Amino acid sequence: MKKVKKAIIPAAGLGTRFLPATKAMPKEMLPIVNKPTIQYIVEEAVESGIEDIIIVTGKGKRAIEDHFDHAFELEINLVEKGKLKLLEEVRRPSSVDIHYIRQKEPKGLGHAVWCARRFIGDEPFAVLLGDDIVTGDTPCLKQLINQYEMLQCSVIGVQPVSDQETNRYGIIDPIGKDGRLYQVNNFVEKPAPGMAPSNLAIMGRYVLTPEIFNYLSLQEQGAGGEIQLTDAIQKLNQYQNVYAYHFDGIRYDVGEKLGYILTTLDFAIRNGELRIPLLKALEEILSRESMQKVIG
Ligand code: UTP
Repeated sequence: MKKVKKAIIPAAGLGTRFLPATKAMPKEMLPIVNKPTIQYIVEEAVESGIEDIIIVTGKGKRAIEDHFDHAFELEINLVEKGKLKLLEEVRRPSSVDIHYIRQKEPKGLGHAVWCARRFIGDEPFAVLLGDDIVTGDTPCLKQLINQYEMLQCSVIGVQPVSDQETNRYGIIDPIGKDGRLYQVNNFVEKPAPGMAPSNLAIMGRYVLTPEIFNYLSLQEQGAGGEIQLTDAIQKLNQYQNVYAYHFDGIRYDVGEKLGYILTTLDFAIRNGELRIPLLKALEEILSRESMQKVIG
């Protein structure tokens, strides 16, 4: 059995929902408390047993490469000042082997994954989206890899969303269920409102067999004029089973403004140093708001 040892992290999107912040800075570098989003994702991959990571980058994404590189001057400065705990934090991202490939044009997620095909070769692999963070006891990707090892088939991570949100995601049409595992009839990218076959949405974590590249290489455009990974998964599903797994854990959407703010608050509230002052500040903000309502 071939093990899942490689992962692709697509990070070449334009991040238009965060403009103008993302004009010169990659959205994947936006910090959640003190770590960039993409570092949480790399850490999940490593904790799941991934040995090699390829990040798909694009124009204006150099900061990602710099972040995962050694920063000698900074490290020497921290040693001289005796700031050893910070030094450990600064060194941590460089401890895994990370490779890069450029997607010349942001033609869609499916195209970004296809750009990494030579790095993957003929092996099963993982995809972790650069703007979804998942927390939980067992890393989300590890849960999918465990399923892959039993089934020897592609496994896609899903979680339920509300009826109003189904048109923002790839949605599955399940035909059978065994615990948290679903057999899937169809994978539909961003179904029109009221047309979703279920509420189970694809949440940025995938384990795929290399046959997916046969379908991605067709370069067919789907929803929004983009080359969609979901469409290729649907085609693969007609040739070999693709399963969906309802993973355990909290998923944070850091790719849009409200999701990003809520993620930051949630992570900060769990941070020993920030918890008390943050809760106090939030109380003050809320009481100011209700005072203004009374006056207004
Ligand atoms: P998104 O659609 O959430 O990212 O893609 P985006 O296009 O940057 O966001 P908006 O809508 O303009 O705000 C999910 C992930 O896929 C990557 C993105 O970087 C993101 O991490 N992606 C998307 C690519 O690598 N290439 C693409 O062509 C599109």
